[in-house]
Amino acid sequence: MRVLVSGGAGYIGSHTVVQLVAAGHEVLVVDSFVNAKPSVVGRIEGITGQHLPVHAFDLTDKDKTERLFASERIDAVIHFAGLKAVGESVAMPLEYYTNNLESTLSLVRAMLRHDVRKLVFSSSATVYGTDQDGATEDRTTFATNPYGWTKVMQEQILRDIGAADPTLRIALLRYFNPVGAHVSGTIGEDPQGIPNNLVPYLAQVAVGRRDQLDVFGDDYPTRDGTGERDYIHVEDLAAGHLAALHRIGTMDEPVATWNLGTGRPTSVLEMVAAFGRAVGRELPYRIVPRRPGDIAVSYADPSRAEAELGWRATRSVDDMCADTWRWQQANPQGYPDA
Ligand code: NAD
Ligand code: WQD
Repeated sequence: MRVLVSGGAGYIGSHTVVQLVAAGHEVLVVDSFVNAKPSVVGRIEGITGQHLPVHAFDLTDKDKTERLFASERIDAVIHFAGLKAVGESVAMPLEYYTNNLESTLSLVRAMLRHDVRKLVFSSSATVYGTDQDGATEDRTTFATNPYGWTKVMQEQILRDIGAADPTLRIALLRYFNPVGAHVSGTIGEDPQGIPNNLVPYLAQVAVGRRDQLDVFGDDYPTRDGTGERDYIHVEDLAAGHLAALHRIGTMDEPVATWNLGTGRPTSVLEMVAAFGRAVGRELPYRIVPRRPGDIAVSYADPSRAEAELGWRATRSVDDMCADTWRWQQANPQGYPDA
């Protein structure tokens, strides 16, 4: 199929583009580069050995989005584009609602006008709010921050559009905690500024960009007192998108929802130890007070995706750390600016 990947220059999008090309799909990307460097495109082409057509604009621009669909043959869309930093969304709610909701409305409007009827959407475990332990897809969705609400709202918008037009096929994929990098070490996660997330922060400690990791609390009701999360390798996550893209061709209902997680929680201290094994030395950390808004435990029940998509995460936490470390060692400052 000819697949439009929105946000394809981003972390998860870039890894998914590589797997789509390897699977024989034709891929084009739209990305505003608000949170990605153009140099990633050359890195993707270096892996695939193929030219990657990229349309660089903001999807909230309805006219440009319409022109893209009028000028390109598109069979399906995977929609990664969006702002995703929880803390930032609390400080800038209007930007998050505008960017995330208007880009999706603009994209779906153009899809419907041009008879593109297959959509895979990036949702998040954050839609389970504070109820994320062993989460199953039938749980009530709610959020505790504007970013999470944009995901809850986008899911509802897509469910309502699917109910009104049963010829659509929409997969809502709820990711847990994506980490890791392509095995080549040439693409990976490249957060701008101080990383919010645990693994990229750990990687920067390991490569010498940060002095030590602050562990946000060790007084949670968990195995070792630190927060537990369902970390999933970005390559397993990308594979889940190809499985969903394949499945929506045979779905009976317009909209389906799948968790993409391993089902296995890992604590902060367990991740610190695993990363130390990848690096070959213990990494420095200190315990500090809890981060406001953090929950103790989050992990998926991935059984529906396993049963209905024939998909299962296969990579271990040690694989995640080894692949992240290879990327970080080769790219201590992340992607080059030019
Ligand atoms: P990312 O920031 O690396 O990728 C998002 C891409 O979208 C970036 O390249 C950015 O430039 C682009 N973009 C943002 N707004 C745009 C717009 N209006 N028009 C065009 N391009 C735009 O983030 P990621 O980690 O790859 O996440 C991809 C998707 O997965 C996001 O929707 C995110 O909410 C979701 N998600 C991420 C995580 C995670 O922890 N990384 C977890 C759950 C869900
Ligand atoms: C993981 C664990 C922290 C950093 C976030 C978003 C979520 C999704 C994934 C988009 C927690 C601890 C972290 C650090 C630490 N993003 N930690 N020191 O918060 O589970 O999820 O990213 O959809 O919406 O909320 O991920 O990596 O920030 O934290 O101790 O410097 O590591 O307390 O227990 P989180 P995280």
